[in-house]
Amino acid sequence: MPVRTAVIGVGIMGNVHLDQLAKIPEIVVEAVVDPSEETGKKTVEKHRVPKWFPDTGVMLAEVRPEYVVVASPMPYHAADAIAAFDAGAHVLIEKPLCTSMEEAEAIRAAALRAGRLFTMGFQMRQFSANRTLRQHVEEGRMGTIYHSRVWGGHVMNYPWGRYFHRKSVSLGGVVANTTVHPLDALLWIIGSPEPVAISASSFCKLVRMPDPPINFSGTIDEVSVEDFAHAHVRFADGSSMSIEGNWLMHATDRIMGFEIHGTLATAQSVAPQWQPEHGKEVETVDLEKDIAWHEGTRQEHEEFIRAIRGEGTPMVTFHQALTVQKILCGLYESAAQDREIRL
Ligand SMILES: NC(=O)c1ccc[n+]([C@@H]2O[C@H](COP(=O)([O-])OP(=O)(O)OC[C@H]3O[C@@H](n4cnc5c(N)ncnc54)[C@H](O)[C@@H]3O)[C@@H](O)[C@H]2O)c1
Repeated sequence: MPVRTAVIGVGIMGNVHLDQLAKIPEIVVEAVVDPSEETGKKTVEKHRVPKWFPDTGVMLAEVRPEYVVVASPMPYHAADAIAAFDAGAHVLIEKPLCTSMEEAEAIRAAALRAGRLFTMGFQMRQFSANRTLRQHVEEGRMGTIYHSRVWGGHVMNYPWGRYFHRKSVSLGGVVANTTVHPLDALLWIIGSPEPVAISASSFCKLVRMPDPPINFSGTIDEVSVEDFAHAHVRFADGSSMSIEGNWLMHATDRIMGFEIHGTLATAQSVAPQWQPEHGKEVETVDLEKDIAWHEGTRQEHEEFIRAIRGEGTPMVTFHQALTVQKILCGLYESAAQDREIRL
């Protein structure tokens, strides 16, 4: 029997999920939720989904889905996910997870209470180069990881959607919404070290630009998030990480990526390769060509469905999701308070 599924929030990302879910024979989408009647009706017609609901609670009570994809705006993630767990569903939540560490803990408690599985929409974990790098690290082939760098942004472009520029509905700007992808992948690859402190600074350059040559669909007066941020993270094992996000960059050759420094090797995600022998002639190893971004979404569903059927474990653990959330919340707190924050 296919897994009976519902998607909450059917804007741009909800539609990406619906496109990919339709390619998986083990899944049948039975309902979507969106408060916008126009969006809901358009979506059920386009994706041939039986039912649209304007309200999550009503959908859960009536449809009782086994699997729920939460792709609503970030402030609703926690309430939607907790309601779905309480109704007995397994849940995938889009990034960023939620508004605070308290909400993150409440999501975890609801999943444990219900005995249901959790994962997140972090497609970069599906990239074959990232999986190979993770294996190298796990096998000790990079030695001890002592530092890593991650960066992610856009070339003069705020993301689409009407909320990414408003802190109240998006947690933050470039780091919470764009850099979060390579940040999660990097933390996962290096074995999820425990962050203990973070020091960050952030800027909002857009509001100071009189006529910005930028792709932006919001209202400048509403902009309340950073379009550039930098942070230094210290981990319990003594290693460190540098995080940089920039939506208003001009360089086109370093949009998103990371670098890992180990005692035996250095790995770069941009042109994935690694250098195996410390002190000898450098040998570079090119990793497998990678999958498309949306294919990662399909694969994350396939992997989660296998876990739901008891044939594996979910891709993202609560510990990993909460580590990313802790770093994001700490970064914004540090930048706002102009000091290092203990995590
Ligand atoms: N993993 C990725 O690559 C990726 C990419 C883009 C967005 N996202 C994430 O997906 C989520 C949605 O982003 P988007 O770009 O699709 O936004 P969007 O603005 O395109 O769509 C959001 C939809 O949610 C609906 N909505 C509003 N309030 C709701 C509620 N209370 N319950 C249910 N639906 C509600 C809106 O009407 C809209 O149709 C965000 O968390 C975002 O960060 C992830």
